[in-house]
Amino acid sequence: SFFAPIQDAAPPSPTKRHTIKISIIGTGNVGMAIAQTILTQDLADELTLVDALPDKLRGEMLDLQHAAAFLPRTTISASTDFSATAASDLCIVTAGARQNPGESRLNLLHRNVNLFRKIIPPLVEYSPDAILLIVSNPVDILTYVAWKLSGFPSNRVIGSGTNLDSSRFRFLIADHLDVNAQDVQAYIIGEHGDSSVALWSSISIGGVPILSFLEKRQIPYEKATLENIHKEVINCAYEVIKLKGYTSWAIGYSVANLARSILRDQRRIHPVSVLAKGFHDIDGGDVFLSLPAQLGRGGLLGVINVPITDEEAERLRESAKTILEVQAQLGV
Ligand code: NAI
Ligand code: LAC
Repeated sequence: SFFAPIQDAAPPSPTKRHTIKISIIGTGNVGMAIAQTILTQDLADELTLVDALPDKLRGEMLDLQHAAAFLPRTTISASTDFSATAASDLCIVTAGARQNPGESRLNLLHRNVNLFRKIIPPLVEYSPDAILLIVSNPVDILTYVAWKLSGFPSNRVIGSGTNLDSSRFRFLIADHLDVNAQDVQAYIIGEHGDSSVALWSSISIGGVPILSFLEKRQIPYEKATLENIHKEVINCAYEVIKLKGYTSWAIGYSVANLARSILRDQRRIHPVSVLAKGFHDIDGGDVFLSLPAQLGRGGLLGVINVPITDEEAERLRESAKTILEVQAQLGV
């Protein structure tokens, strides 16, 4: 063999090293942006790609494998057969229709629910202990659908939610104040998209709560500017889709950010889509919305009962009501 044998070498103990396996279902714009970021950030030992288009799937796999000399070693496989996802630690679902320019996320619902009826059961069959991370839109309702179809406890079914919206919010605030976005803490919660809720009180720059900072110094803060920034966040996806046809890079980094917190048990707080019933008087049924949540190896570890204003709570409940009305028609 190429290597001379090492004397009295003992095989590694199978219990000592758990290999981390991620499966990505849907290798389109979003799935491949997520795959590339997972490889670059060395988040898994095995990466399995699943899609319905065999040639595209194999092409994407080969193209990633050809980068092996520049990446941490990861075993990359691909199949149209869901059995290839067996024993996944994390299943990331991006399969489904995407918005055409000007189209709402909600408009994708029936096509993607029907798709989920086909893809969630085999994922559950082959990886009964996995964590499901849902990205396909409308992500909050599809996370609810994945939870219902999977029969998993709700701590193992998470939607990427407003982790992306909050990243856009942090970028726009940072750009406005000429600071680094990583020094801006700011949460957008609720529905991923049109009815999201900006938590003004959560905005801090370098740990300094911005609104109280301005109020204490009687600096007339630009509430209108902050509201315009939130409106810009809501418009981000529509603008990018109009320009390039889809969004992919930011969601790729956003989902890898969540995968790292989960698989490396980082116990970090992220605004992600969780079973929100019971928080902020949200009632009327099982609904997934984004709230600041702690993520670790068990999936969702806890939800922060973040203090929000009555107006913010009311807007959350309005979102929940709309989503529940839509869900009621799904028969899931
Ligand atoms: P895309 O059209 O590029 O990729 C979708 C992929 O799903 C295609 O490769 C298609 O072959 C695959 N697919 C369809 N049926 C399948 C099946 N039965 N099994 C396996 N794969 C199947 O679309 P793109 O741009 O990647 O978007 C995917 C989804 O992600 C859309 O619903 C989009 O709205 C959503 N999205 C969500 C974001 C979020 O923040 N939650 C951000 C960006 C996109
Ligand atoms: C986005 C859409 C596509 O926020 O969900 O990028």
